[in-house]
Amino acid sequence: MKKFMGVFVFMDHKFLFLDSYDRLNLHYQRKISVMLKPRQTQDPLNLEEIKIMTKSCRIAADTLNYLTKYIKAGITTNDIDEMANDYMKTQGAISACLNYHGYPKYTCISVNDMICHGVPDNTVLKDGDILNVDVTALYKGFFGDTSRMYKIGKVSAEAEKICLVAEQARMTGIESITPNGFTGDIGFEVNKYVTRQGYTTVKEIGGHGIGRIFHTDPFIPSIGKKGKGERLKPFYCITVEPMVNQGEEDIEEMDIPGSTVKAYKTTDGLLSAQYEHTVLITDKGYEILTLS
Ligand code: MF3
Ligand code: CO
Ligand code: CO
Repeated sequence: MKKFMGVFVFMDHKFLFLDSYDRLNLHYQRKISVMLKPRQTQDPLNLEEIKIMTKSCRIAADTLNYLTKYIKAGITTNDIDEMANDYMKTQGAISACLNYHGYPKYTCISVNDMICHGVPDNTVLKDGDILNVDVTALYKGFFGDTSRMYKIGKVSAEAEKICLVAEQARMTGIESITPNGFTGDIGFEVNKYVTRQGYTTVKEIGGHGIGRIFHTDPFIPSIGKKGKGERLKPFYCITVEPMVNQGEEDIEEMDIPGSTVKAYKTTDGLLSAQYEHTVLITDKGYEILTLS
């Protein structure tokens, strides 16, 4: 990576000193401005709000569990999308994705070389496919966001491996969280782990603050430097959702008709995998709210 000295920039009504990693993250955040443009800052959650947030996250995680027995060869990604919506409704929640910046479906389903924001359609799943299902529930005004990979029938050793690496990348990132730590701590550990396994991380898209707002600051990167980036604060929630590519880290952006949300796939057609948790930062460490 090219090195450059830090600079002062005027941002958020104050001068901030940004080093190369901060600037890198800022650059990436701008590319996904749709998701993170409004720097709407939340207040820390009180006990009552943590209870609701916990429930919203529980519903999202249970939706992923519920889907497991139905996801098999022969069904379409639309079928999965409908089932996820039906289940969330039985739990008193709604999908946060539908109509979000014009997004047309209840969930995001990204098959094989799709990195994220795959739009469910009439694609029939077949033996050997791997797919990410990303569910965000909205319950009593709070967002719970989680995703995981599913495998159809017998998948290749490569497909098995990338799923394992993506799941462990999420865990490695979460384990680096400390109260008052930094977003760069997470990015550092994620990128170190993933590259040592022979895979690449997606730099442009990452995790986010979440709570009463679906996507808010801070941006949670999949590359970073310890002690750099934005500070993590107790009693705020973030998502940790690293995207892992088998080959090139580059991403190809695709339009979603009627929406300002973009879908992304690998440029080389090789596999990509992702796991996502919503995590509460506490005064002692963290709590994963979307265990499934
Ligand atoms: N759930 C996705 C995330 O992890 C965001 C999906 S936004 C949508 O942040 F509009 F595409 F649904
Ligand atoms: Co998500
Ligand atoms: Co998310």
